[in-house]
Amino acid sequence: MNDKKPLMDYRRVQKLQTPLLLTGALLSGVGTSVSVPLVILGIAIMLFAIVIGVLYYRCPHCGRPLGRIGEGGAYCPHCGKALNAPVEEPVRSITVPAYAKLNLTLDILGKRDDGYHEMQMIMQTVSLHDDVTVTLTDGKGITCRVDGAALPCDERNLAVKAARAFCEAMDYGGGIDIALIKRIPSEAGMAGGSADAAAVLRALRAISTVPVILLTAKREPLDAAALEVLGGKLGADVPFCIRGGTQLAEGRGEKLTVLKPAPRFFVAVCKPDFPISTPALFARVDGVTITDRPDTDAMLAAIEHGDADTLCANVRNVFEQALDGEQRERIETIKCDLLAYGAKTSAMTGSGSVVFGLFSDKAACRRACEALQGECVKTFCAEFV
Ligand code: C5P
Repeated sequence: MNDKKPLMDYRRVQKLQTPLLLTGALLSGVGTSVSVPLVILGIAIMLFAIVIGVLYYRCPHCGRPLGRIGEGGAYCPHCGKALNAPVEEPVRSITVPAYAKLNLTLDILGKRDDGYHEMQMIMQTVSLHDDVTVTLTDGKGITCRVDGAALPCDERNLAVKAARAFCEAMDYGGGIDIALIKRIPSEAGMAGGSADAAAVLRALRAISTVPVILLTAKREPLDAAALEVLGGKLGADVPFCIRGGTQLAEGRGEKLTVLKPAPRFFVAVCKPDFPISTPALFARVDGVTITDRPDTDAMLAAIEHGDADTLCANVRNVFEQALDGEQRERIETIKCDLLAYGAKTSAMTGSGSVVFGLFSDKAACRRACEALQGECVKTFCAEFV
């Protein structure tokens, strides 16, 4: 691994090689008429000079062989860095935030032939986030640790799947460690798993110019578009989580259109103590007649014009109409409580069970979070990012 300090500096190799070769040649030349062991010693010294040249006559920055091109030259012919420039410690570890999302609108247009549903959603990144640390390790394989939630650390975790997919796409066989600090609630409709997967992909892309990956991987680093395509194969929300901001998501959720940043709001995020399974709720939607759909065009216009009131008037999620009786009642109660505490609007996000309220005033948002926090509901104060 060339990101470790080499045993011998390339300048020392340069200085040593010529005298060693000359000494070796002299000894073996003299040895032919004096003694055989002297010849062997001479040859051994010459071989040693060649071996240290191959192993250590390398660029101190990228670790690639300098060959003849580097001789007397000031710059590496591969990475272009000045050979005598101070060597920076390569970044082997990076921590990135994995932001949660909210659905300002969620409409289901129909069921597709591939079993998925055709969606039309306006999504917004919020400040509630997990922390994802990706570290390149000396070993092989992917390891994962999770703090803050009882989640699997194997291939069932989307973050591990993302790292695996990245390694396959770059044909990289080195070791990767993932450490997740979870804050985004699970089965909540906030794309917690997708956010972690997206963060792993972004972190690995950022770190993929490190020599250990550049030299070991058999393919070029992925560009932003390739990263989103890769993310789309992991889950419908992953491309959105890679981009973030305010976006219109269509198709399965992976076809994104960048929107102007929505007017800023503070968000009271309320997670009731029951999870909702996304596939199960999609299955229920198929048997329900949806009556109250979001006016996506009106929401798009509100965002375009920065019209906060019209935005609030158009927040809607058709999934709420597919909830079973008890869940629906609990969600409605939280929505009403949020409105009573001053929210400008409230709705369920994604396939739930998180309900959010939008506030223009931070203190009012905090008061609502404090008031609704309890045994059956966990609350988080956040804002649009
Ligand atoms: O893509 P993701 O893994 O997030 O989707 C989880 C499940 O939600 C899918 O297996 C599918 O049952 C359902 N789904 C759907 N239509 C979509 C997105 C998800 O039916 N557009």
